Amino acid sequence: MEAEEDYRRKERMVLAVIVVVASVAVASLLVAFSYYCYIRNKVSKRLKDLQGADDEDKYDFQNLQVVAEKGLQVFTFKQLHSATGGFSKSNVVGHGGFGLVYRGVLNDGRKVAIKLMEQAGQQGEEEFKVEVELLSRLHSPYLLALVGYCSDDNHKLLVYEFMANGGLQEHLYPMSSTNSISLKLDWETRLRIALEAAKGLEYMHEHVSPPVIHRDFKSSNILLDKAFHAKVSDFGLAKLGSEKAGGHVSTRVLGTQGYVAPEYALTGHLTTKSDVYSYGVVLLELLTGRVPVDMKRPPGEGVLASWALPRLTDRDRVVEIMDPALEGQYSMKEVIQVAAIAAMCVQPEADYRPLMADVVQSLVPLVKTHRSNSKVGSCSSFNAIKSPTPHDFALRPAKWGSRARPAQWSLGSGKEAHTMGLFEDYP
Ligand SMILES: Nc1ncnc2c1ncn2[C@@H]1O[C@H](COP(=O)(O)OP(=O)(O)OP(=O)(O)O)[C@@H](O)[C@H]1O
Ligand SMILES: [Mg+2]
Repeated sequence: MEAEEDYRRKERMVLAVIVVVASVAVASLLVAFSYYCYIRNKVSKRLKDLQGADDEDKYDFQNLQVVAEKGLQVFTFKQLHSATGGFSKSNVVGHGGFGLVYRGVLNDGRKVAIKLMEQAGQQGEEEFKVEVELLSRLHSPYLLALVGYCSDDNHKLLVYEFMANGGLQEHLYPMSSTNSISLKLDWETRLRIALEAAKGLEYMHEHVSPPVIHRDFKSSNILLDKAFHAKVSDFGLAKLGSEKAGGHVSTRVLGTQGYVAPEYALTGHLTTKSDVYSYGVVLLELLTGRVPVDMKRPPGEGVLASWALPRLTDRDRVVEIMDPALEGQYSMKEVIQVAAIAAMCVQPEADYRPLMADVVQSLVPLVKTHRSNSKVGSCSSFNAIKSPTPHDFALRPAKWGSRARPAQWSLGSGKEAHTMGLFEDYP
């Protein structure tokens, strides 16, 4: 009897132990499962965020607030085939990263340039989409107009207005030995091109919301019409900027060597000031007639911006950088003023660079003055470089807020400082 009682007690104890162990096991399983769900949620949310940012990165141009959208013409491959004489070699006017560029004539007689995508690839497809989406929304006399496009399963083509004088770089440092130095652009034309290109960027940065950052601003993307008027082209790498003052967007570093702003190259943080840096490099090309990077040049001269910067801010040395082809065409006053703008634009610190609106404001009087001077005859004040001017030349940058005015930039020394917007006062 007692043995039976003892056996039952043991049995109850074992049962209790089993129940406790099982409960602990179930509880641990529940905790582990909840933790697993929590982690899974977190990871998938992060992946979604990243994916979202990536998608936004590509196709967020629908939200761009612009004055008007313009319908683009959709062409068939056959139409463009016949417009270019069957993509004949004799109609090739250039070759870039996207592919060959052909001269063409449409049925209505309009002259166009047709870019044929060389090989399908994600980068090419993305650039094609961005170019079409942006250029159907952005319209300015200083941006190259897209007439239409062709997009079928096998072909991607972009059709632009034709720019008879091609890319700016071809006129600054002609590659072919048959082009003599006399074919290079004159000073007055270079100043006007600088102003028109600045107006193109100013439109993208200041006249649309959110701002559009070009990301590949360079001399080959400034095209010249038959009268050498300039338009900015190639928006395939463009991105929408941050609307927050001083804000940036983070993105893959794309662009062209020698033109990419240092902070963008290092961190991937992109702002409109990255374009301002690239604009400064183009201004240096206009002043010097040199390519942005050429390691075959003497030591220290390989990278144009680093070589030029200390000279730009030194009145006695600024002439060292000038393109010999321009000799006798400019005055010291003009050179100092354009050099000062270039120096501001290529400041390593993005906040110290001006807004494109300020660059435009500073170039307008220069272009006007030059026009009125040139009526009297070619400006032959190269000698004036040697005659001393009463002002020392020094740059004293002050940090600019994203909407600051240029008055914080000054040229000159001490009491005689001249603000950037008051260049007309320079002797
Ligand atoms: N609308 C146009 N009218 C006339 N010529 C053009 C036009 N667009 C391009 N070209 C010519 O084709 C050349 C190549 O242009 P493209 O934009 O394809 O390449 P890129 O600017 O040299 O390099 P990237 O591919 O890096 O932009 C230009 O330098 C220019 O001579
Ligand atoms: Mg180009």
